[in-house]
Amino acid sequence: MEPTTDIEFEVNGKRVRLAVSPREHLADVLRQRCGLTGTHLGCEHGVCGACTVRVDGAAIRGCLILAVQADGAQVRTIEGEGDDPVMQALQHAFIERNALQCGYCTPGFLLTAAELLELDPDPSRESIREYLSGNLCRCTGYQAIVDAVELAAHRLRGEAVTDAGAP
Ligand code: FES
Ligand code: FES
Repeated sequence: MEPTTDIEFEVNGKRVRLAVSPREHLADVLRQRCGLTGTHLGCEHGVCGACTVRVDGAAIRGCLILAVQADGAQVRTIEGEGDDPVMQALQHAFIERNALQCGYCTPGFLLTAAELLELDPDPSRESIREYLSGNLCRCTGYQAIVDAVELAAHRLRGEAVTDAGAP
């Protein structure tokens, strides 16, 4: 039988205790053991960003961190962001600007974009592109995603957005 290690961490504000295999990555544990399937797995090699979660506030790839490394950490997944004003602004803007199609990449984009807007409330389109460059989308062509993040940033700064097109 495979050896396990006991870990304890907080997920979306709830304390969780689990016995995990030392080789299990965090994204698998969140999906399979915690039922948090909003964390998606694409490449499982750190390339696509679909598995992005926040660990102690930093957006990281859930497929590149072992669950044992999250022992004692505060983890937030897309399911835990519902009441966050930055996330709400991003979600509305993604819908309005058609920044998602199949939605597979969307949780990762939202969590990465939320981190960006917390660090820089007034990012240029270039900075948005650069910050999101580690997240891959196979559907949208990215323009709409950049538009959506820009729109959310405008709204969070309290600026009126008069045009239904570009902010
Ligand atoms: S599944 Fe983790 S980066 Fe692709
Ligand atoms: S919306 Fe389909 S992969 Fe991005």
